[in-house]
Amino acid sequence: MQILDGKALAQNIENAIQQEVQILNKRNVTPGLAVILVGNDPASQSYVNMKAKACKRTGIYSITHEMPENIQQESLLQTIAMLNQNPNIDGILVQLPLPKHINTTAVLEAIAPQKDVDGFHPFNMGRIFANLDGFIPATPLGVITLLKHYNVSLQGKNVVIVGASNIVGKPLSALFLNENATVTLCHIYTQNLAKHTKEADILCVAVGKPNLITKEMIKEGAIVVDIGINKLSDGRIVGDVDFSNVSTQCSFITPVPGGVGPMTIASLLQNTLKAAKLRTKKY
Ligand code: GUN
Repeated sequence: MQILDGKALAQNIENAIQQEVQILNKRNVTPGLAVILVGNDPASQSYVNMKAKACKRTGIYSITHEMPENIQQESLLQTIAMLNQNPNIDGILVQLPLPKHINTTAVLEAIAPQKDVDGFHPFNMGRIFANLDGFIPATPLGVITLLKHYNVSLQGKNVVIVGASNIVGKPLSALFLNENATVTLCHIYTQNLAKHTKEADILCVAVGKPNLITKEMIKEGAIVVDIGINKLSDGRIVGDVDFSNVSTQCSFITPVPGGVGPMTIASLLQNTLKAAKLRTKKY
């Protein structure tokens, strides 16, 4: 069994981004990311903090707009409209989930597609499904980058994804399809989940339930990508996979922490750099 070391690869990617940012700086260009955080959910605050720190490490300018839980949707839309016009901002990211009184779709659709570094706008979603260039959501992009780095071949493989969210499962299914894999997308209404997971050459899990995936659900030699991040009552961070038992059954596995999480951050930086390059190419 080999570990898919997302932490190490993310570090390499960050080093490369830092160098590219320095080259852009010589042309008086600094990539810029604006992050909008609504409310005070501790998990969201922690993710936003990690994103801001990663920007700092690589020389990307970042600004976080913190807004109260009871913000009116109109104020949020106004902030996005302002950021769409701001020439110092290449990427706009609204941390999800948003409070219930806000229409998430309306907010995501307000972001200019060329600044949509999270890839959640239907414009970019559509482009992924059509196998066209666009912004790919950070977590799915991180998963594919990690597998390719370890020379995992995807063509013709049975890929099973558990979790069909707009943020992870759906775009990840499109990316695997674009690599000519055979994709099964499982979700909360899937009957007999184990029947599907046992067929997987590559199993990706993004649900948010500790120990959802046990050893009995894995085909011998499978590749397991754990996208879950769960905080246990004792403070430990674990994924959705029973790591200690499943790891004896598979050929490759991602640890949590240190697997997909750091790759998500690195992919967001890559998208921000890409947005800056596309913007400045015009001048
Ligand atoms: N909430 C959970 N994951 C993500 C993500 O990748 N981006 C944003 N904006 N919000 C999230």
